[in-house]
Amino acid sequence: MSAPWLTLVGIGEDGVLAPGGADALAHAEIVYGGTRHLELADEFTAEKRTWPSPFATVFADLAALKGRRVAVLATGDPMWFGIGASLLKHFPAADLRVLPSPSAFQLAAGRMGWALQDTECLSVHGRPVDLLRAALYPGARLLVLTSNGETPRQVADLLADEGYGRTRMTALEHLGGSRERCIDGTAEDWSQDVADFHTLALDVLGDPGTRFRGRTPGLADEAFRHDGKMTKQDIRAVTLAELNPYPGALLWDVGAGCGSVAIEWLRAAPRTRAVGLEPHAERRQMAAENAVALGVPHLELKDTTAPAGLEGLPTPDAIFIGGGLTADGLVDGCLKALKSGGRLVANAVTLESEAVLLAAYQHLGGDLKKLSVHRASAVGGLTGWRPLMPVTQWSYTKP
Ligand SMILES: C[S@@+](CC[C@H](N)C(=O)[O-])C[C@H]1O[C@@H](n2cnc3c(N)ncnc32)[C@H](O)[C@@H]1O
Repeated sequence: MSAPWLTLVGIGEDGVLAPGGADALAHAEIVYGGTRHLELADEFTAEKRTWPSPFATVFADLAALKGRRVAVLATGDPMWFGIGASLLKHFPAADLRVLPSPSAFQLAAGRMGWALQDTECLSVHGRPVDLLRAALYPGARLLVLTSNGETPRQVADLLADEGYGRTRMTALEHLGGSRERCIDGTAEDWSQDVADFHTLALDVLGDPGTRFRGRTPGLADEAFRHDGKMTKQDIRAVTLAELNPYPGALLWDVGAGCGSVAIEWLRAAPRTRAVGLEPHAERRQMAAENAVALGVPHLELKDTTAPAGLEGLPTPDAIFIGGGLTADGLVDGCLKALKSGGRLVANAVTLESEAVLLAAYQHLGGDLKKLSVHRASAVGGLTGWRPLMPVTQWSYTKP
């Protein structure tokens, strides 16, 4: 294991360094940081370098310095939505020494009087605010890292749009510094100007009658814009249970349609990823809109047909086949791509695609079942069962 040569030093808004930080800067040859941070922590002799523009070139610059004594100044805790996470994509953990200061989340929780274990901490810094749509529930306490002074207005609009207009919003500016200031209001009345550098605290309150959208799969069909060719609520709930989402796992949704299965996968567990393959342009558009509306704008959609379109995609942890089962080589292509231990779930409504699943079951095993759902509806003046199309489902774990 190599010795750490890159030290990440947390710094507060007041210029106070993390424990051990002053020593790390005194021994560094080169110190990277923003202009403000380099000014705040100016009692060291190392060469000062401000972040390059574009920022992404910094990783190559740092790689060229490997083995030298380099320090990086970063706000708060560099490992909590900070530069530490970005550096770990380019350098092994053994290269880094991390000296954290209190994070914005900790400072904000302290000011709000919220216990952190009862608070959701998330970031929309450089990300779509629509991510918040999946984090809302009545009584939620959210601490949110933001992009700039525009974010509170966008969040207020989103909350009102979701039926959470009564939510109490607090913008905590320049936490820990001499310019610290708290701005309070409700989402529905928000008109305050906020400094770019702030953290947002949301005490989430729903309007009377606001319907909460659970994370357990099986959202109502009306939660999605669709053209009828979708995996319906009850079948979708069973499908997601068979797919077994877990944090960080990647799903391929083959024949994504309006995106319902991939969207529920993304909502079911944190850090999940999903790629939807869908050649029908209008359905792809519906899937993109549904993903934004349901708080998972990171659903990746591809205008392509399987199996050809499977080439070059990152290895999936699970695959759902909701369309194209009769296409030559589709099941084999999916099975080949799936990682060992991964789940494949395929749904069929036609006899031809059911025959493909029967052959796969006879050849490989797994579970084959037939799902049928009846919904009560009016028959004349009385009530009767109306069957939905039965679905044959094959589930398989790759050895
Ligand atoms: C029953 S729908 C999918 C339903 C989807 N799970 C949903 O909830 O909206 C089947 C979809 O598969 C797509 N499809 C058909 N053959 C395909 C193939 N070979 N590759 C990718 N998609 C395909 C169709 O365009 C259609 O949108």
